[in-house]
Amino acid sequence: MVHISEQKYGDIYIITLQNDDLILKVSNFGCSIISLYTKDKNNVFEDIVLGFDSIDDYKNQDKYIGAVVGRCANRISNASFSLNDKEYKLAKNNGPNHLHGGINGFDKKIFKHKALDNGVEFFYLSQNGEEAYPGNLELKVSYILNKNSVLINYNAISDEDTIINLTNHTYFNLSGKCCDINSHFLKIKADCFGEIDENGLATGKLSKVEDTPFDFRKFNQIGIGLSCDNPQIKMGQGYDHPFMLSDGKSQIELWEKESSRRMIISTSMPCVQLYTANYLDGTIRGKGGWYYNARDGVCLETQCFPNSINNGVTDVILRKNTEYNKATSWTFDILSK
Ligand code: BGC
Repeated sequence: MVHISEQKYGDIYIITLQNDDLILKVSNFGCSIISLYTKDKNNVFEDIVLGFDSIDDYKNQDKYIGAVVGRCANRISNASFSLNDKEYKLAKNNGPNHLHGGINGFDKKIFKHKALDNGVEFFYLSQNGEEAYPGNLELKVSYILNKNSVLINYNAISDEDTIINLTNHTYFNLSGKCCDINSHFLKIKADCFGEIDENGLATGKLSKVEDTPFDFRKFNQIGIGLSCDNPQIKMGQGYDHPFMLSDGKSQIELWEKESSRRMIISTSMPCVQLYTANYLDGTIRGKGGWYYNARDGVCLETQCFPNSINNGVTDVILRKNTEYNKATSWTFDILSK
């Protein structure tokens, strides 16, 4: 049984979904996750995501905290791509490249919403030519609570061939405290990761994780990998890399020992971008007056491989009148060892 309530601030709503295990607050601004309370080993509920105390702070931020990112998450090289022999020029909003859907991506849009039995569904019509992407795209994102899981469903349809790569850009800190995530343990079922260049762009080159700080096939502490002398870690100023996920479920696990909170991620998407909040620089005032620094949260952005339209690693083309359907779930439990 999910209890649903909402508060309205002008055209912005905050919707609260609550059951015995989880309290999730989401907003129609950027479909953003505002807070997520889960239980620690002593059954104490704490908020495990970064965010802000006021809606205006969500509007003014440029770090995509909590938001749904699109039409195309991550970077597109040289801010351009070709589709059906036509070249599309996008905004260069990250050095020479296009990042996270452009200047006014989905993270900045106001969505319509309706309550579901066990969650909420958001709707947005991204018009043909918005941020220079082709096709009128009807987008639906829903957040559903199912016992100790949050399920995110992404659905879209376009009236022209287009490209799409959606993700959610929540920064997690499972401690529920103001501290960094260096001591968090991470497991990713991935044999390969994507190398990046000096602009953070995935080059399309896949490397084996074996014998590198990118080997998370068994639980490894994130801080240990971050402190390794590795050219790719240096290039990203930390982890800011896509991993090719194995098929199946429960491909990613994040665990914080002190609270014993564990999050298990299952996704139908082929990759996850591991991003250790490298560009949070202490200038953003977050919840409760906590100024966010690098490593204060970790993003696990399930998505297609970055820049796939130009490097072809995965498929990001959405053909006219066909449906895009992807889902990611976050399941929370207690792991004591
Ligand atoms: C990217 C980073 C980028 C950040 C912006 C992440 O998804 O991988 O390179 O700086 O988003 O918040």
